[in-house]
Amino acid sequence: MSPEKMRRFGYQVIDLLVDHFENLGDQPVGAKLAAKDAAGLSLEAGPPEDGRDPSELLTYLKRDVFPNNLHVDHPRFFAFVPSPGNFVSTMADALASGFNVFVGTWLGGSAAASIELLVIEWLRRFCRLPESAGGLLTSGGSAANLIGLVAARQSVSPAELARGTVYFSDQTHSSVERALLVIGFLPEQCRKLASDAGGRLSLGVLRQAIDADRVDGRRPLCVIANAGTTSTGAVDPIDDLAEFCRNEKLWLHADGAYGAAAVICERGREKLCGLDRVDSLSLDPHKWLFQPFECGCVLVRDRALLHSAFRVTADYLREVHRDSAELNFGDQGIQLTRSFRALKLWLSINTFGMAAFREAVTRGFELAELAERELRNQSGWEIVSPAQMGVVCFRFGADDALPGRLVDAMLHEGYAFLTSTKVKGASCLRLCTINPRTTDAEMIETVKRLDDCARRCSRDAVNGAKRVTFRADSVV
Ligand SMILES: Cc1ncc(COP(=O)(O)O)c(C=O)c1O
Repeated sequence: MSPEKMRRFGYQVIDLLVDHFENLGDQPVGAKLAAKDAAGLSLEAGPPEDGRDPSELLTYLKRDVFPNNLHVDHPRFFAFVPSPGNFVSTMADALASGFNVFVGTWLGGSAAASIELLVIEWLRRFCRLPESAGGLLTSGGSAANLIGLVAARQSVSPAELARGTVYFSDQTHSSVERALLVIGFLPEQCRKLASDAGGRLSLGVLRQAIDADRVDGRRPLCVIANAGTTSTGAVDPIDDLAEFCRNEKLWLHADGAYGAAAVICERGREKLCGLDRVDSLSLDPHKWLFQPFECGCVLVRDRALLHSAFRVTADYLREVHRDSAELNFGDQGIQLTRSFRALKLWLSINTFGMAAFREAVTRGFELAELAERELRNQSGWEIVSPAQMGVVCFRFGADDALPGRLVDAMLHEGYAFLTSTKVKGASCLRLCTINPRTTDAEMIETVKRLDDCARRCSRDAVNGAKRVTFRADSVV
């Protein structure tokens, strides 16, 4: 491509992105293609023999591809865990990709690795872990949990491992269970314990399970605490768990993929008391630190364990392993080829400053509280789990099928999107409010629309039920 063509295309891309950031709130929250319609995207079956004008392709992407996804960065996207990115980090990703920096080895990307080390040091200090702690940026929380659990496994002997058992609550994210299976724990070594009424891992229940396993000749190895569950934002009693694990010689991993970033603000720090005592921790900047995908992080109290768990040498890496003072991130985790993820965190934190980040995280707490107040002001709504860590769960009536119908109806309407979950076996709706760009007016309007929608859907359900009864009667 000539420099002129590159510039023309590049400026078009930038214009598209600026429009996205500027006008997203005026657009629907996103759309989902029916699986059978995906073929209707007018994508050609094979790669074309002759190239096409990238500007034309951009027009196609703008019209058919980008709108037909859910916008996880939309100010009224409250489903799952939103990812409200920012423009500076988006540009950082463009730079990281454009310069294609390799951050798997010190030799390949020494300056980039220095920035990653610095960013990891910032995250370590936010969590108040000791200087011995270190870690790396990952694709996300799933990889971070896996790496943290490999470090836990590394801390025991093979004989202990063979008898080893791990403990977590029924509210723990599925990625933890998957990570345990991937790294070789058998299902019978995993103890999924019933959480208490607040969705927290109870120390009493944990102690009982561990005592029973010891009697059976098992070797309890590791406890996984939630630093903000995905369903309700519940935080396990990390400080008590840390004390218990220290006395019992157990590894404590905290899954803070969703919630640990809240430690940067006053309210989060109070909720996350004891986070500084864990042995390993996951924390996703692509969730509550406003970075675009993919950016997770794992921190390990004794960072030397990462090196001993993951370092593998090879003949063709001789130059890489020549100087032991050089840190190779490829020897700390599962990826050798790694992109320059740290750049987006470094550039955005430097651009906006930590005060802005703290305020933005605090806003997430406040928005969930606003939603809860609005729901309490409407008749018929029950708060199933009060606002905590930017999540609130609620239901309208006792019909377990209603939340799912409301989710579909809200997506169809396009103003706001939320998803459902189960709390203590009952279906409910859930708002995750970590996008600081959501205005109070948008939150109030979302609750109003939900209320309208719930009354309409439950009326329709009653009418539908009557019709079915009538048909059944006429058959009789
Ligand atoms: C508590 C928790 N842990 C782990 C994960 C997995 O993170 P990722 O999707 O970035 O792999 C999530 C994702 O939402 C989460 O909420």
